[in-house]
Amino acid sequence: MRRDMRLSKQVSASPFIPRTPLGASARALGVDRAGASDSHPRVPTPLVQLERSHRRLEEACEALSIAARDHDIETASDVCAFFARQVRRHEEDEERSLFPRLVDAGASPELRALLERLAREHREHEAVHARLEEAVSGRFEGDLWQELTAIAELMTRAYQAHVAREEAHVFPAAEALLGSDAIDAIAREMDARRGR
Ligand SMILES: [Fe+2]
Ligand SMILES: [Fe+2]
Repeated sequence: MRRDMRLSKQVSASPFIPRTPLGASARALGVDRAGASDSHPRVPTPLVQLERSHRRLEEACEALSIAARDHDIETASDVCAFFARQVRRHEEDEERSLFPRLVDAGASPELRALLERLAREHREHEAVHARLEEAVSGRFEGDLWQELTAIAELMTRAYQAHVAREEAHVFPAAEALLGSDAIDAIAREMDARRGR
C-alpha cells in the first residue's frame, strides 16, 4: 500500500496527536480510497486533495506577487476569483467536514485549540480576500500596485504559517484518528461541494 510518506513521517512527531494506535483507520487515510487497488484507478483521499489545494494556494500567492510587480490586473483578477471560489471551498472542507470529525474522534485539547485558531484564521483570510476584491474591482482609489503588493505579502505570510500548521499537525492527526467511514463521509461532502 502506498502511503504519503511526508504525512506518515509527521504522525509520530506531532504533539497534537493523542496516543492512538495506527491501524485500519490510518490505512483508510492513505493515498488510496477504500476499495482501490493496483488494478483500479486511484482516487486521492480527502487529505491528499486538501494538500494539493495548499500547493495551488501557494502558487496563487506567488502569481499575485508577480502580477503586482508586473502591473498585471488580469492575473490579479484571476487570483481573486480563485480565492473566492476554490479557497473558500477548501476552507469549508476543513471547517465543516474535517475539523468537526476530529473533535468527534476525540481530538486532544491542544488539537481542539489549534482547530479553533485555524478557523479564526480563515475569517482573517476572508478579510484579506475582501481587500483583494476591492483592489481588483476598479473602484480602488490610491496606488493599486502598491496595494496589490501589500495584499500579496500579507496573503503569502498568512497562508505559509496556516498551511504549515495544518500539514504538521492537523492532517497527521486526521490520519491517526479518523476511520474509513469518516474519511468516506468527508470525501462525499467535498465532492458535493464541487457538484460531483
Ligand atoms: Fe485552513
Ligand atoms: Fe488548508
